[in-house]
Amino acid sequence: MTKPHILVLGGGEDQLPAYHEARRLGYGVVGVDQRPDALGASAADLFLCMTTRDPERIAAMVGHLDIAAVISPASDAAQESVAELSRLLRTPHQPAPDAVRASVDKGYFHEVLERLGLPTYAYIQSADPVELRLAAAALPLPVIVKPSDSSGSKGVQVVADQAALPEAVAEAQRYSFSGEVIVEEMLLGRHLSAEAFLRDAKLATIAVTERSTTGAPRMITTGHMVPAELAPATEIALRSMVMDVCGALGHTDGPVNFDFVVDRTEEIRFIEMGARLGGNGMPLLVRHAYGIDTYEAALRLALGLPFELQARHDKKTALQILTTDTDGILRTVEGADEVRALPQTAELRLFAGPGSRVRRYTQAGHKLGYLLLVADSYGELREAQARARSLLRFGVEPDTPPAPAPAQADAAPIRTDLLTEKR
Ligand SMILES: Nc1ncnc2c1ncn2[C@@H]1O[C@H](COP(=O)(O)OP(=O)(O)O)[C@@H](O)[C@H]1O
Ligand SMILES: [Mg+2]
Repeated sequence: MTKPHILVLGGGEDQLPAYHEARRLGYGVVGVDQRPDALGASAADLFLCMTTRDPERIAAMVGHLDIAAVISPASDAAQESVAELSRLLRTPHQPAPDAVRASVDKGYFHEVLERLGLPTYAYIQSADPVELRLAAAALPLPVIVKPSDSSGSKGVQVVADQAALPEAVAEAQRYSFSGEVIVEEMLLGRHLSAEAFLRDAKLATIAVTERSTTGAPRMITTGHMVPAELAPATEIALRSMVMDVCGALGHTDGPVNFDFVVDRTEEIRFIEMGARLGGNGMPLLVRHAYGIDTYEAALRLALGLPFELQARHDKKTALQILTTDTDGILRTVEGADEVRALPQTAELRLFAGPGSRVRRYTQAGHKLGYLLLVADSYGELREAQARARSLLRFGVEPDTPPAPAPAQADAAPIRTDLLTEKR
């Protein structure tokens, strides 16, 4: 009898903890990722360097193994494969089909909200650029243009001018698996997210985070803080809306993540959902803030075992996404030890080291690391964030070195801020 394995789709920083957790639970790990240099390549017992979106082929490749569970934290692109592989390999937990669909099709998620009578807003989804342009002309500007089925902010753009729409639609289409693009009314308000976990059709835990972003035009997440300061009535409304959506989708057990905006009138509008663990280090945030291990719970659920979601503490916690604004080669990382020595630092995780190729933060996948800070007050948390920001320095050698400054006796001082921004 061969040792049972857990099949983890995706080998990025948000899937890697599942590899370690699987091993801790006594299983072997099969990792799948199309990038040969994915973090999971060296962490898996067997690594399949291929797309996560071809379940039949993956099933054929692992046919000789005893696969006890299939999981893909944080990845929307892999959720249909998780469902298909769970069926083909007859693993104990089968994801709810409608929850999978709502996770990978933003237009379908809008339909679900409409059906439930939850607050909605104008959108059009289509694969036809002309139809999108005509319909978008009727929406108030700015609008937001996104692939209907991608994630990690790939191809997302705020458009403030009708003339910029065709290029934004073309870019979103390049990132869309189905070719469909969604153009939405831009919601104004606070950006938040909810990382929840259901058990037996009940909300076992929910962490509501205050999300910071790069702002328009890309709106890429730069960090989260928990607990978000929500009015008690808003928090109650949120829980009830989460349960309405999960109930309608048949999602009775497992993690679910929502992005949403709360406006000045405290109206909650959902932007998207994923019936999976959240990306951007969300489970790490939950573990540091509440002492709940959602990786373990998600794996045990996938294995058909009982799982535990009891909070052990409640701490104000911030997760900062570490980034660079230069495409190039990372040469130096300064200040990591000083940041680790701060009393508020719970964890500093770096995904890139000297010699790594790094990219400007134009999508979530370009992150360099996570910094987790824990404090007694939001003020202390913000101070520690500022302190860490001033200590931690990524020295990146740009891809194309900037042209040398002309030799002049009274040359103006070199603007180092501009030099590092140049490609
Ligand atoms: N209609 C909208 N109004 C305001 N902000 C939006 C809207 N749609 C998306 N965003 C912002 O863009 C981010 C990325 O969009 P999202 O639909 O979550 O795509 P992804 O699947 O790439 O995460 C959101 O988290 C949010 O901050
Ligand atoms: Mg999102």
